[in-house]
Amino acid sequence: MAEIVGGIATSHVPAIYGAIAKGLQRDPYWKPFFDGIPPLRAWLAETRPEAVIVFYNDHGLNFFLDNLPTFAIGAAQEYLNDDEGWGMPAPAPFRGAPALSWRLIEHLVEHEFDIATCQNMKVDHAFVLPLQLLWPDGDAPPAVPISINTVQHPLPSVGRCLKLGRAIGAGLASWQGAERIAVIASGGLSHQLDGERAGFMNQAFDLEFLDELVRAPDVLTRLTIDEVVEKSGTQGVELLSWVAMRGVLGGAVQQRLLNYHIPISNTAGCQLLLTR
Ligand code: DHB
Ligand code: FE
Repeated sequence: MAEIVGGIATSHVPAIYGAIAKGLQRDPYWKPFFDGIPPLRAWLAETRPEAVIVFYNDHGLNFFLDNLPTFAIGAAQEYLNDDEGWGMPAPAPFRGAPALSWRLIEHLVEHEFDIATCQNMKVDHAFVLPLQLLWPDGDAPPAVPISINTVQHPLPSVGRCLKLGRAIGAGLASWQGAERIAVIASGGLSHQLDGERAGFMNQAFDLEFLDELVRAPDVLTRLTIDEVVEKSGTQGVELLSWVAMRGVLGGAVQQRLLNYHIPISNTAGCQLLLTR
């Protein structure tokens, strides 16, 4: 049986590549974001996960509006990024964990999650950024990428994403491998990049969301997707990844780190570390 060592959630803002390239980690604008990273790396160095499950949302690199699965799981040996126009340097390929992917796929389909399975899947900045921030030497553990549609409506509900995470948690409990597994969620918190409300952020909602996510995630299922968009912005719905991560962790959790700062680029930047 696999051991779930904990969950990390973080915003994914491509502008932080520019900040890293310019050595601005201690600059007053960027420092509040980068301050969240060393405690996460210290925790990872202590717990040494051997595989990671990464919930994220593809922004159009692998899936576009013509072909957009609600939930998609990678089952590849390795995952490549490609130029998305953010000026990010091309990273080395990321290792996959296909045996673990297939176990989770089998478990999910058995439990009525009709997910897309991808033996070939490009991973965009939402997958790449957290792994690069957490493993800057390029030694991220083998990964299972799970993409949640946050782009084209209808989006999966908060409750569905929580159930997806819980189903994955149950699948890990029946996995024969003995790996220590960390769960990563990428996205959010509140932000809106386009339309009349471009620049919208909502600290009051984010803090309430975080509190409920940690303490009582089922309470969040009261929110419809339209309410999530209204309160957190059209891209704030990326918080669905955080809900799925929380589902994997199961019952009570401990909050080991919360680092929240507005704004980082156009986003309410946040890192969260939860353990069981
Ligand atoms: C920004 C935030 C995102 O979630 C994203 O995918 C791209 C850019 C931003 O705040 O700049
Ligand atoms: Fe995004």
